[in-house]
Amino acid sequence: MRETRAIILAAGKGTRMKSQVPKVLHQVAGKPVLRYIVDVVRSLKTYVVVGHGAAQVKHAIGDSVEYVLQNKLLGTGDALRRVQPYLKSFSGTLLVLCGDTPLLEPTTVRRLMARHKQAKAAATVMTAIVRQPFGYGRIVRDAQGNFVAIREQKDAGPGEHKIHEINVGMYCFEAKAAFEALRKIKLNPKKKEYYLTDIIKLLLSCGKRVSTWTSLDESAAFGINTRQDLAQADGIIRRRILNQLMDSGVTIVDPATTYVESGCKIGTDTIIYPCTFIHRDVVIGRKCSIGPFARLRPGTRIGDATEIGNFTEVSRSRLGRQTVMKHFSFLGDAMVGNAVNIGAGAVTANYDGKDKNKTVISDGAFIGSDAVLVAPVTVGAKAVVGAGSVVKKGTRVPSGAVVVGVPARRIRG
Ligand code: UD1
Ligand code: MG
Repeated sequence: MRETRAIILAAGKGTRMKSQVPKVLHQVAGKPVLRYIVDVVRSLKTYVVVGHGAAQVKHAIGDSVEYVLQNKLLGTGDALRRVQPYLKSFSGTLLVLCGDTPLLEPTTVRRLMARHKQAKAAATVMTAIVRQPFGYGRIVRDAQGNFVAIREQKDAGPGEHKIHEINVGMYCFEAKAAFEALRKIKLNPKKKEYYLTDIIKLLLSCGKRVSTWTSLDESAAFGINTRQDLAQADGIIRRRILNQLMDSGVTIVDPATTYVESGCKIGTDTIIYPCTFIHRDVVIGRKCSIGPFARLRPGTRIGDATEIGNFTEVSRSRLGRQTVMKHFSFLGDAMVGNAVNIGAGAVTANYDGKDKNKTVISDGAFIGSDAVLVAPVTVGAKAVVGAGSVVKKGTRVPSGAVVVGVPARRIRG
């Protein structure tokens, strides 16, 4: 089987984001835009062309992909040309994608690749019919409907402006033919860029087969260019995440006010009440009740049948089974056991101004309302911390003991 390499073009500046952060590192549902594309092509050896903010991009995305530097942003044709030295003896297929289309789904990519293989083409261009084609390269066809060229917005004639079939920016190329054609493309005089899309005409003119595949998945073409695009993509991905959770047996009472970021796991028969925010890297067990108005931050792990109620925040903490934390509480850097009661308003004071410290609350412990545990603190199994107590830094409350007051003193056990 001929091999495929994925190439993600991500060197662009993203001027319209008006940001110091490279466009592809802005987050959608808790995950950088570029990471979505990298994840879609995970099974392929992948090259990412970086330029603007290259060091930041490398740092954020990590070393599961290879990076190719494009020093000067001379266009998409030049970007692909930069990859050639890495693939000198490669004679398989190149799957070329843009780094700013987070809505792209794996099935869309698989279908494009299947189409390319079936057509035995030198190039296959993915197209879409969109309501607002402004800004995209248009797919120009002859009277018989044969694909003849891609015309960029700036270069399109009046008739061509009316074309609604657009170039999504995702292609399959036979590597040898594409690299050869890339050598011949000329700088576009208007944009002063080398257009990757110019190789289509070149391939056709030397008798190579070029095919198109029109996807019904319009969202594949949706690229992030502005903050408004970012918000729109966030809304779509968030809804996808919630739909998947509901399909897997989680109740989301009000999807419109529930935010679950990418990569969370939630067990069946858990109910998420409105106005709840669950960040990335959170795992929740079965039959839990979360919210309304709860915020679960990264690193939180919640066992089965545990209740997290209103106006609560949990961060980098692990809670066991059948534990309850129903009102106005904060747990940070805490290890909480099974069947623990966290009273209304109880908090762990995990930050001392310099370091984050840990709190351990063992099985069956009872933390009274408004208690403050100044970490590091350990509360033993079935111990009781009275309402309004302040448990001082470094305290170990023995199992079964009762402590009360400010500072908390042992009165029993
Ligand atoms: C490109 C296509 C257009 C298509 C559209 C789809 C060309 C000439 N045009 O236009 O037909 O409809 O995408 O969104 O290719 N990039 C680099 N290096 C560069 C320039 C761009 O890596 O020097 C990257 C960008 O980061 C981006 C991608 O290539 O991820 C596309 O570049 P962009 O400038 O957005 O191209 P468009 O003008 O949108
Ligand atoms: Mg673009």
